[in-house]
Amino acid sequence: MLSGKQIVLIISGGIAAYKSLDLIRRLKERGARVIPVMTGGAQEFITPLAVGALSAETVFTDLFDRQAEHDVGHIRLARDHDLILVAPATANLMAKMAHGIADDLATAILLATDKPVLAAPAMNPKMWDNEATKRNRAILKTRGIVFCGPAAGEMAERGEAGTGRMSEPLEIVAAAEAVLRDTALKAGDLPLAGKHVLITSGPTHEPIDPVRYIANRSSGKQGHALARAAWEAGARVTLVSGPVTLPDPAHVSVIHVESAAAMLRAVEASLPADIAIMAAAVADWRVAAEGKEKIKKDGSGRPPALELAENPDILATVGHHRNLRPRLLIGFAAETQNLLDNARSKLERKKADWIVANDVSPQTGIMGGDANTVRLVSRDGVEDWPELGKAEVARRIIARAAAALSD
Ligand code: C5P
Repeated sequence: MLSGKQIVLIISGGIAAYKSLDLIRRLKERGARVIPVMTGGAQEFITPLAVGALSAETVFTDLFDRQAEHDVGHIRLARDHDLILVAPATANLMAKMAHGIADDLATAILLATDKPVLAAPAMNPKMWDNEATKRNRAILKTRGIVFCGPAAGEMAERGEAGTGRMSEPLEIVAAAEAVLRDTALKAGDLPLAGKHVLITSGPTHEPIDPVRYIANRSSGKQGHALARAAWEAGARVTLVSGPVTLPDPAHVSVIHVESAAAMLRAVEASLPADIAIMAAAVADWRVAAEGKEKIKKDGSGRPPALELAENPDILATVGHHRNLRPRLLIGFAAETQNLLDNARSKLERKKADWIVANDVSPQTGIMGGDANTVRLVSRDGVEDWPELGKAEVARRIIARAAAALSD
């Protein structure tokens, strides 16, 4: 969502300005170009040198800078970009924005812009609670300015706590992505707008007793990447995730489950969906009679016999659903041998439209790794994809799915 985007970052004068340095890094690592503008107050807290070094861009500070006005100008700074991000937004800056004051470069840009504006306020809690700030915020909201935070917590000043801390850089990044996606949705640029995409991800844990379980090596990286790609393509996304160490993807509704039985319940409760992608590595078997207490050694030297029962097949259940089968149903096939034959038979048996097949032999490093080499198996044939990052595999699957839906 941020890749290739141009963001004007206005830094105003508050102690939270130090977090803006990290924010620049976070935006840049996601492929955005960050054009910094600093108010006079901001320069009391952090230096243009640091901001320039991190952004690798000219730092704009002065409304009447002859050179800058000649090259770029505040009007172009206000217009030629995808998003204006104000972080931190002080009470003073918010007041000026609300009342159309344009007495420095930052406020002139904010008055002249026709681009989306996202503000991350940061101020003392008393200033945030002040009626004047409340009104300014309400005015700005009616003009379509989006706010991220502030959060509650300890202030920089000793003994001060309350609402007024600037949101953390990653929260601001997520808010910036949401604003850009909203803009793209309104422009009709996203292929899955209005669609619901249901995704399963991660392993399942099948309990043996209250403290032990059967699991597999799935990390959830591919499923989570699919959820993100579907959101970026404009869909409403439900992610049913088994136990993983990954953070929940932003903007996605996540249902956490442990066992295959719970995953099936969550999936069925989330239907209808236009597209369902079952990327979870669901355990094929569970323990038939889960121990209610921790199983103990009995001193005989004989291990306990664990009887297994077959788990419900979630993909097949959805594939055979009488009235709620999604228009496009995609399964995965993680195999260590006979990849294509197994994938083709799964396509039929589970009534899926496509199977994304991958070889998960330990030497491939796919399980838990960041890259994936897949073959897309459909009734029309087999496509071999090159080795790609899991995020790129996800984007391609989603792009193909969106195209298939519009056929
Ligand atoms: O049969 P196999 O487990 O290899 O099939 C893999 C595909 O089926 C994956 O899409 C997986 O999410 C799905 N599956 C399922 N429920 C199961 C087993 C597999 O949805 N119990």
